Amino acid sequence: MSLDEFGKIKFDLVQVSRLALSEKSDDLRLFIAKLVRQYRSSDPDLSKELSDFLKANPPKSKTTTMRRTVFDQEVLGGDVPVDDDSQMALLKRYEDESHESKPILAPGIETTLNLLIKEREQKEALAERGLDPSKSAVFVGPPGVGKTMTARWIAAQLGVPLFVLDLSAVMSSLLGRSGANLRSALDFAKRSPCVLLLDEIDAIAKRRSDDSDIGELKRLVTVILQEVDEWPASGLLLAATNHPELIDPALWRRFDLIVEFGVPADEALSSAISRFFGPDIDQFSGWVKVLALLMKGESFSDIERLIRRLRRNFIVGGISTESLISDLLRSKCELLDRQGQIEFAVLLDTCTELSQRRVSELTGVSRDTIRKYRPSDRSPGTGKDT
Ligand SMILES: Nc1ncnc2c1ncn2[C@@H]1O[C@H](COP(=O)(O)OP(=O)(O)OP(=O)(O)O)[C@@H](O)[C@H]1O
Ligand SMILES: [Mg+2]
Repeated sequence: MSLDEFGKIKFDLVQVSRLALSEKSDDLRLFIAKLVRQYRSSDPDLSKELSDFLKANPPKSKTTTMRRTVFDQEVLGGDVPVDDDSQMALLKRYEDESHESKPILAPGIETTLNLLIKEREQKEALAERGLDPSKSAVFVGPPGVGKTMTARWIAAQLGVPLFVLDLSAVMSSLLGRSGANLRSALDFAKRSPCVLLLDEIDAIAKRRSDDSDIGELKRLVTVILQEVDEWPASGLLLAATNHPELIDPALWRRFDLIVEFGVPADEALSSAISRFFGPDIDQFSGWVKVLALLMKGESFSDIERLIRRLRRNFIVGGISTESLISDLLRSKCELLDRQGQIEFAVLLDTCTELSQRRVSELTGVSRDTIRKYRPSDRSPGTGKDT
């Protein structure tokens, strides 16, 4: 056994002891269910033994389930389905997200989504002409660009709850139950108006390479294919993925809309920066253009994280905005090759209020070089570079 594995087992032992002694039996069951999954292929006997323990000791007080039941019956007239073995909820609920801020969207996406919402508001007009509103869409794009956030926002706009399918819970069960789990989750979501998000749907497709599970995963894809076809117009079925290339083409064809999300450009980038500074924007407003150049190509969530760090350093560290941003610029330049540094220096010189001297100091590119590479249509001596 490697040291790593030994460390992991020690950690698990501590967790199990802690949960058992604090009598957190629901949490303990979840933890054991995780171990069942973890050891399923490497140590099937251990996995089975643990799973038998779970089965032989069903939850005594179904506290979590009961708490959920009361709440769900009020809202939906039913309990969120759970995986039989682990008692993990197959769906996560997000409700009343009306306080959630609207995602910043590229103009094309905004138009598409506004129409999607409008179609639902005017479904009677569509019905008169024998049409349904669009009932399924798949969101494609890299991590951190607002796929999940947008699903939550759409649900809030429609005034219905959002359910997110927890694929790890669906697949947590013993082999053979995933299909039934998926079906019961989808059946549940079909019963009342809601938005259902199949988040990270590629997880199913990705796992296809794992031979032992291939039959199981095919079944899951088949279930989803059928459900997309039969989805009621009262609900909206969304899916999100970072890996469109892994998705079964048959599934792909069935979605009414394919929406491609991307990292923010131009206006979206500046809006994101301003938004993420929140109440501190006044102190940083002079730097938005510089930051936009600095963060071009980054996802919203990376930008948000970086800005949070700037704000913390500003508030607690008492570091000036000037030196915070200078540090960022310097570290960015260190990562670029010479040509990249020159291009970046020229951009800073042409697109921001920074003086050419300052740009040169920050980037390590001489003023002569900046002048040489600067677009020729820009006449020298605009007054800012002295
Ligand atoms: N378009 C956006 N507008 C404003 N904030 C955003 C946007 N996209 C992402 N964010 C911020 O980043 C966080 C993470 O975004 P989100 O979870 O929606 O990304 P995602 O596209 O679903 O990523 P993943 O593929 O990793 O699931 C959000 O909670 C929000 O704070
Ligand atoms: Mg997401």
